[in-house]
Amino acid sequence: MDFGLKNRLSRIIKPRTGKTVMLAVDHGYFQGPTTGLRDLKKTVSPLLSNADCLFITRGMVRTSIDPRSDVAVCLRVSGGPSILGELSNEDITTSMEEALRLNAAGVGMSIFVGSKNEDRTIANLGRLVNEAERYGMPVLAVTAVGKEMGRDARYLGLACRMAAEIGAHFVKTYYCKDFYKVVEGCPVPVVMAGGKKIPEREALEMTANAIKEGASGVDMGRNIFQSDNPVGMIRAVRAIVHKGASVHDAFEIYSKR
Ligand code: 5RP
Repeated sequence: MDFGLKNRLSRIIKPRTGKTVMLAVDHGYFQGPTTGLRDLKKTVSPLLSNADCLFITRGMVRTSIDPRSDVAVCLRVSGGPSILGELSNEDITTSMEEALRLNAAGVGMSIFVGSKNEDRTIANLGRLVNEAERYGMPVLAVTAVGKEMGRDARYLGLACRMAAEIGAHFVKTYYCKDFYKVVEGCPVPVVMAGGKKIPEREALEMTANAIKEGASGVDMGRNIFQSDNPVGMIRAVRAIVHKGASVHDAFEIYSKR
């Protein structure tokens, strides 16, 4: 791995622990002003100091993030369809030049394995990796799940492995039963997406299990910013990811107001 790529990746996945707490706030790129992110600036500002990295679109970086913040940015560079359309119909929407201009530490896009446009999203990933490697930019592949797709280790293992084979430098996927099998079959770091909002204790349990089973951290959104205590929640997640805190101790951290 080149210096630039390694250096950028270590701004996201912290070398001290080999883990990352990414805060995913890109949901608006297809969902619009979703619950908790209507005013992204207001939601994200108090969370910044506890996030290693933001997963975010360029429009929201420009309008809503303080450029003096030292949080790393992983830029979502794919998009196209809204929740009203065929979700797999994505293309690359943001150039590498823009990622460099915004001082991004990485770029990310979704692949839709098993969906209508799976082949196009995989080809897009290949093209993005080709271009990104020219500039030492790590690529995150997001294994999006189509409406009809399952979330089992077989499906997510297939999607993560394909992403790595095409050249993604790290992969984001959902937690599932036998998650360790997904991690085992994927030679690059796997970070866990949180998925729909669930009770805080369950989200912390899921995080702890993912870490035990080999995840390199989280790229979590709704279970943090839709919590009744987002700052407590991100601190609790952080304690599990970076310090190996128990679910009990992490829940105590979340409960502090
Ligand atoms: C959507 C995404 C989101 O960033 C991802 O789903 C993580 O957020 P959450 O924890 O809310 O699921 O990539 O395609």
